[in-house]
Formats: sequence, C-alpha cells, structure tokens
Amino acid sequence: MNIEIKNKTAVVTGANRGIGRSITEIFLQAGAKKVYLAVRDLDSVKELEEKYGNRVAAVQVDVADKAAIQNLAKQTPDAEIVVNNAGVLKQADANDPNAEEALAYEFNINTLGLLRMAQAYQPILKKQPEAAFVQLNSVASIKNFASFTTYSASKAAAYSLTQGLRETWANDGIQVLSVHPGPIATDMAKQAGFDEADPADVVADGIVESLATGAFHVFPDTMAKQFEAVYHDYATQVIEAEPEG
Ligand SMILES: NC(=O)c1ccc[n+]([C@@H]2O[C@H](COP(=O)([O-])OP(=O)(O)OC[C@H]3O[C@@H](n4cnc5c(N)ncnc54)[C@H](OP(=O)(O)O)[C@@H]3O)[C@@H](O)[C@H]2O)c1
Repeated sequence: MNIEIKNKTAVVTGANRGIGRSITEIFLQAGAKKVYLAVRDLDSVKELEEKYGNRVAAVQVDVADKAAIQNLAKQTPDAEIVVNNAGVLKQADANDPNAEEALAYEFNINTLGLLRMAQAYQPILKKQPEAAFVQLNSVASIKNFASFTTYSASKAAAYSLTQGLRETWANDGIQVLSVHPGPIATDMAKQAGFDEADPADVVADGIVESLATGAFHVFPDTMAKQFEAVYHDYATQVIEAEPEG
C-alpha cells in the first residue's frame, strides 16, 4: 500500500516532545488534515495547539492504561494513520538489582502499550480506505545494548509483535511500519548515554517516505542505515517473506 500524508487524519502518542513532536509537525507540514496529540499531560501541547489551531486536537492518554487507550480510540474514530511512539527507557544492565523492575516497567509501556494500541485501533483502521499503523521500534529491537538491556528486550518483543501485526492485518488492508531508529537527539538518547545523535526530523521524514513507498522496515538515521546495510537480506528474505501455505 502507498499512503500520502496529505489530507489524512493521524494519531500520535507522545506528541508533546522528542520524536513524537517532530512526527506531528512533519505530518502537518506535509498536509495532514488533522493530528490528534495523544499525551499524558494536556498542558504539554499548548504550544502546538497555539501554532496549528484546529488542525491539532489534544487527547489525554496513558498507554499503561488499557481503558484510557480504548477511550482515546473512541474519541478518534476518523483516525487513518496511528503512530505508536510513546516509549520509556531505564538504564539497567543484566547485573543491575533493579533490572527486573525496569523490564516490567518498559514491557508495560513499550510492548503491552503497542498491543493495547493495536487492538484498540484495528476496528477503526480496517474501515478506512487507506490506513497505516506506525510502530516506533529501535535498532535495539535487533541488537541488545547491554547498558540498557531491559529496554532492548522490550523493543525486541515489540518488533516481534509488529511482525505479527503486519501479517494479521494484511487482509484488513492496514499498512504496518516498523521504524528502527538509532540514537536520535531527544531526552531518551541523553538518558541512554549517547553524545552523538541525529535530529528527530530524520525519523519523521523516513516515516512519511516509507508510508508513500509501502516499506515495512524503516531505518531512518546514520546508525540505523549501518544496521540496515547488514540486516537487509534477513529482513527482506526472512521477516518480510510471504507466509507459507
Ligand atoms: N531517541 C532515541 O534515540 C530513540 C531511538 C530508537 C527508538 N526510539 C523510540 O522512539 C520513541 C520516542 O522516543 P523519544 O526519543 O522521543 O523519547 P522521549 O523524548 O523520552 O519522549 C517519550 C515520549 O513518550 C511519552 N510517554 C512515556 N510514557 C508514556 C505513557 N505511559 N503514556 C503516554 N505517553 C508516554 C512521553 O510523554 P511525557 O512527556 O508525558 O513523559 C514523551 O512524549 C520511543 O518509543 C523510543 O523507544 C527512540
């Protein structure tokens, strides 16, 4: 499927800062009709509301809360593109006494949050003539980074679920994107200890481009492209292979 942003209505979780904010602004600049800003704190998107007026609408959600996600979906029945961007990272290696707690926290937001969003939006997206679900995974979905090993595990599980969504939703006509950024200059990259990071706009631009080309895997930035160079054959010949039977 090939989807243009122009005149589309999108939902972006975590639209208030970092990559989510950049996706919001790039979608609007590319002609999106409307972007629902799905955020925990409605005050955090006042500036975006002032800048874009009625082309944006703030809706409260905590992706740890299944009922809140279902409520979000009810308030956004015209969604055509859903970006599951909200995510969290804790620094914890395998020896860290807090690793179990970190994994449970990250799994709840990064992995179960994805499943909750996907299940809430499937009935809405399958009714649209053109629809897409964009999942923010990571290079850490493919390679475990030992200093944030639990985050990596949560993103590997999210990537696995994203592959399942792609196959299950093929019959519903929903395009699924698995986005795998390397370090991107946001609060999260600082938390992860990266000094060098590409700007968030490269991720947003990569999503717009991949929606238009129908690509499943998106490797938008400098480090991501290094991963893609060696991962490409496995991605296309194994992950994206047509299911047997
Ligand atoms: N930055 C990177 O280097 C990088 C690389 C690869 C993948 N990613 C992924 O890209 C996505 C965005 O990352 P980022 O760098 O922009 O992170 P960020 O700057 O830390 O922002 C995280 C966003 O997620 C929201 N969020 C966190 N927990 C939430 C919850 N329970 N319910 C609703 N919203 C919640 C935050 O809202 P609040 O403001 O309310 O906290 C914030 O808007 C994440 O999924 C991340 O794993 C990031």
